[in-house]
Parts: sequence; structure tokens; C-alpha cells
Amino acid sequence: MSELHTSEAPRSETMTQGWIDVCGVEDIIPNTGVCALVGKRQIALVRVGEGEEVYAISNFDPFSKAFVLSRGIVGDKGGVPKIASPIYKQSFDLRSGQCLDDPGVSIPVYPIRVRAGRVEIQAAAEPLAAAS
Ligand code: FES
Repeated sequence: MSELHTSEAPRSETMTQGWIDVCGVEDIIPNTGVCALVGKRQIALVRVGEGEEVYAISNFDPFSKAFVLSRGIVGDKGGVPKIASPIYKQSFDLRSGQCLDDPGVSIPVYPIRVRAGRVEIQAAAEPLAAAS
């Protein structure tokens, strides 16, 4: 079936939906991000290190209210992979979307996987964590 659900699907169903091939891992320069338009969402794909560690977060920076997180600075804070906004420098945990500088703020993260060198995002692109 290549049919996509267009209605609101229950959250539990999203895990069974298809994956969208977005790009090759090698298309993302190590320790940088790129922006992908998946459906109507701007998603920042961030590659940590030289390998296949890739994260998908919303590209929207809630502090500057601009779609810029894919341009952020990739780093590490005590073993936590993070990206810092290029505007006001707040850092976000790439795994959870939690802002590391403000406990009250988090951004959506999306289901992602790497298969045969390709980065895939789930078709529904339902965030794993909701924005606050
Ligand atoms: S992110 Fe747009 S100028 Fe830096």
C-alpha cells in the first residue's frame, strides 16, 4: 500500500507508518545540520560525528522565532549531543528536544533512522516530543 493517512492518526499508529527517504548520510557534512521539508514541516537533520548518528528536530527556534536550527553549532554537553541556535545560542538536546538552557522549553523531535546509508524520516513525521 502506498496510500498515506491524511486524517489524524492515533499516536500509537505512527510507528507502523512508512518511512520517507530524505537524503544520504554522506550528504550531510559531519557535525552540521541540513534542513529538509517533510510534508509542511521544516525539519533539521543533524549529523553528529563522522558516522551514522543523525537526529531530526524541528528547524524552528522558539527563542528567535526563526527557522534556523539546522544552521546551529553542533556540540556535546557532558555526553549529550546538542545543537546551539545560531541566533541567541540556546542549546537543545538532539535526542529529546529539551532546551539545555531553559528547562521550560523543548522542541519537537522526529522518528528517524539510517538504512543502507540513507536517512529516513517517518511519513507522518509526528513529533516524538511536543513543543511547549
Ligand atoms: S541561520 Fe540564517 S543567517 Fe545564520
